[in-house]
Amino acid sequence: MRATVDRPGLDNQGRTPLIKIRRVRKGDLAKVRDVIEQAFGDFFERQMGTRPRQVFGGAQYVHHRWLMEPWGCFVAEEGDGKIVGAALAVMWGTVGLVGPVAVLTNYQNQDIGRQLLTACQGFFSENKATLEGVSTYPNSPKHITMYQKFGYKPKGLVVIAAKPMDRREIVQATRPPRAGLEVRRYSSLEEARKKAAMLRMRRITNGIWRGMDLGKEVEIVDGLALGDTLLLEKGRDVIGFAIVHMPGVSEAPHGSVFVKFLAVDSRQRKPENLHALLAAVEEMAHAAQLRRVVAPVYTYYWTAYQTLLERGYHLDFTMVRMKRGKQEDNEHPDDLVLDDWR
Ligand SMILES: CC(C)(COP(=O)(O)OP(=O)(O)OC[C@H]1O[C@@H](n2cnc3c(N)ncnc32)[C@H](O)[C@@H]1OP(=O)(O)O)[C@@H](O)C(=O)NCCC(=O)NCCS
Repeated sequence: MRATVDRPGLDNQGRTPLIKIRRVRKGDLAKVRDVIEQAFGDFFERQMGTRPRQVFGGAQYVHHRWLMEPWGCFVAEEGDGKIVGAALAVMWGTVGLVGPVAVLTNYQNQDIGRQLLTACQGFFSENKATLEGVSTYPNSPKHITMYQKFGYKPKGLVVIAAKPMDRREIVQATRPPRAGLEVRRYSSLEEARKKAAMLRMRRITNGIWRGMDLGKEVEIVDGLALGDTLLLEKGRDVIGFAIVHMPGVSEAPHGSVFVKFLAVDSRQRKPENLHALLAAVEEMAHAAQLRRVVAPVYTYYWTAYQTLLERGYHLDFTMVRMKRGKQEDNEHPDDLVLDDWR
């Protein structure tokens, strides 16, 4: 039975408050960020014994995600208009991703998280997602059980890898890529060439999962100058790309460059192509005088994971990937992909 006293989430007769789930509005954004940071701050404090000075190391999720995918952002609101929970979801073409999801601590275990997830599932159905995913905490029975009840299955570990950049690395990173390979910044292209590059990127992601499309992630980074997208070119062809966030108001933690997504064309699965893109990311870190690169990798992409380790990346922390869909185990271990579903 649920406790009925000292729970601000309950009314004075111990009843669960009436909760309305609705889409996020512009005026909610600061509050949504606050709710997410409070809920995660409490969770990290319970897990680690101390509260981090900055939740997510200063990475931010709310404003640009809402601009990018307003129909995928939901809040849980109490009768008096108080926002007590939030969930953000996004469609990468046919791939639907949930997260972050958060409910204020005093309102947890009252079905609010499940109602928010139900709203995200509705959004995925409306958009005909063929694969749905979430990244969560492997050591939390609550999290894993909650997502399992929605049909998500725990799959494998995601390693959030990081590399401190020392002088030697910076010298290596500034070496030009191999002959025939060139890295160009999406932000430096004229509109017509941006369109052509976007089509190429779509072809690359379509080769990983049919219909997967990172276009809106590229556009929001470009439009809000959150960082840049690096295009790896061979001859006149784009054979890989990396969406990179720089710290400030993006998903990059303070002092770090963050690889949000990276993929090499599956017909060009040579580790040297991944090395060339990573070298360019490290060069971006160097140019901005940042001393750390953060790159997430799903360990099922074994070659990509090994390439990161070879380059001096270490395991910072791990999460578990959970998936839902008819053919959830789509990955090829040699696909050179770095993707973060948080
Ligand atoms: C995760 C979170 C969003 C869940 O929200 P919530 O409102 O507490 O969730 P709900 O009450 O709707 O549902 C939780 C479910 O987990 C179950 N649960 C709770 N503790 C559990 C445990 N120890 N083992 C197994 N299941 C557990 C509950 O029974 C409930 O399922 P039920 O309704 O079928 O009984 C919330 O705990 C939170 O904000 N945590 C901090 C931030 C976070 O970790 N976000 C998710 C990151 S992936």
